[in-house]
Amino acid sequence: MKRDSFGSRFGALVAMAGSAVGLGNLWRFPYLVGENGGAAFIIVYILMSFLVCLPIFICEFVVGRRSQKNAYSAFRDLSGGSWWKYVGVMTVVVPLIVTSYYSVVGGWSVEYLFKSLTFSFTHSESQAAMSTMFGDFVSSPWGPLVCHTLFLAVTAFIVAAGIKGGIEKFSKVMMPMLFVIVLSIAIYSITLPGSKNGLEYLFHPDFSKIDAKTCAAALGQAFFSLSIGFGTIMTYASYVSKKENIMFQSTATALSDLAFALIAGIAIMPAVFAFGLNPQSGPGLVFETLPYVFSQMPAGGVVAVLFFIALLVAAITSSISMFEVGVAYLVEEKKLSRAAACVIVFMLCWVLGALCSLSFGPLSDVKIFGRTVFDFFDNLSSNILMTLGSLLTVLFVGWRLKKTDIYDEFTNGGTLSTNVKIFGVLWFLIRYVAPIAVAAVFVTGLIK
Ligand code: ALA
Repeated sequence: MKRDSFGSRFGALVAMAGSAVGLGNLWRFPYLVGENGGAAFIIVYILMSFLVCLPIFICEFVVGRRSQKNAYSAFRDLSGGSWWKYVGVMTVVVPLIVTSYYSVVGGWSVEYLFKSLTFSFTHSESQAAMSTMFGDFVSSPWGPLVCHTLFLAVTAFIVAAGIKGGIEKFSKVMMPMLFVIVLSIAIYSITLPGSKNGLEYLFHPDFSKIDAKTCAAALGQAFFSLSIGFGTIMTYASYVSKKENIMFQSTATALSDLAFALIAGIAIMPAVFAFGLNPQSGPGLVFETLPYVFSQMPAGGVVAVLFFIALLVAAITSSISMFEVGVAYLVEEKKLSRAAACVIVFMLCWVLGALCSLSFGPLSDVKIFGRTVFDFFDNLSSNILMTLGSLLTVLFVGWRLKKTDIYDEFTNGGTLSTNVKIFGVLWFLIRYVAPIAVAAVFVTGLIK
């Protein structure tokens, strides 16, 4: 049977950008920028993204498109069946873990979209009341479980419809909409009185904050944000036509991810500062501070609905890319139908996600290495497995595969003149710069 594939250049691009743009851009990036030196951090982030992460992104692209296989088979086949196939196993398992806890947060977005549609953020509520509202919701057993189930079911449904008919179709409609929504909120946010302080927080350059730790934070954020190190880009790339230009597709994805993160920062921080609040990161920012901001701002009801639609869409376009990794493996290696593979991945992620969801309430006392189930999975995958996955991928391409094969794939058989010219620089980044930088961050993370 012919393998499914993306139907157009734009389709492949928005699907990859959809994988990259997610919760990482909306709730981590703006805070990290503000905390770590504003524009100075942005410069470090851009350097890390383009000198270290883009080469790794290209490595994943090359492996996926060269093999035209799922992540496991790609490592196994390209390495001639050596122990590298175990790296393939890892790249299939990690996205399952990430999808599980990602789906819990996706579920919270479903609930908060519902809350904003039913006008739950009222002007008379205090900020403390918003925190209590969130705390009560996440610690209750059933509500978050139902939302997690709904979010995961939508993810499975889109993936079951196939690459062209499901993932590409969804991304083509949703990504432009997501961009327009977040841009509109950003424009509105900077017109609020007092928003200047938020822009100052984001963009005032403070180079004294830049040290090894900030560089590690920038690189870790870039991995998560670009979805590298856990098989997703590799799997999507395996559906990209051999005619496409890997350099163009990869750079366009990295640029859209960066642009989106900056626009998200401009949408969120000026509004937070306009109401005299302190920014936080993660769930606290999105589910406690922002609902309070929405309750206070003019037309906040509409902005709240738009914001939570954006959050949900950003989360789904990322979760489908992670879900697809396991599905591709089951379809190609275990010869299951796409529908059956989706049911199995759904069940696995549902069980793991349910444990994560309950770890905010009934299972809050269950600790793994001192962390709740949710924190354990998040920490294990974001701080250890993604970094390790990126390191192994770049070593695989730079030191295990043949340079001529990489050249051939990257330049479409020598036909793309710009790619031919820059290949030398890329090869140097892949062989030396990226592995050394990632190894340094990995070790820093372990001894932290
Ligand atoms: N790249 C996805 C995000 O930023 C996982 O959330």
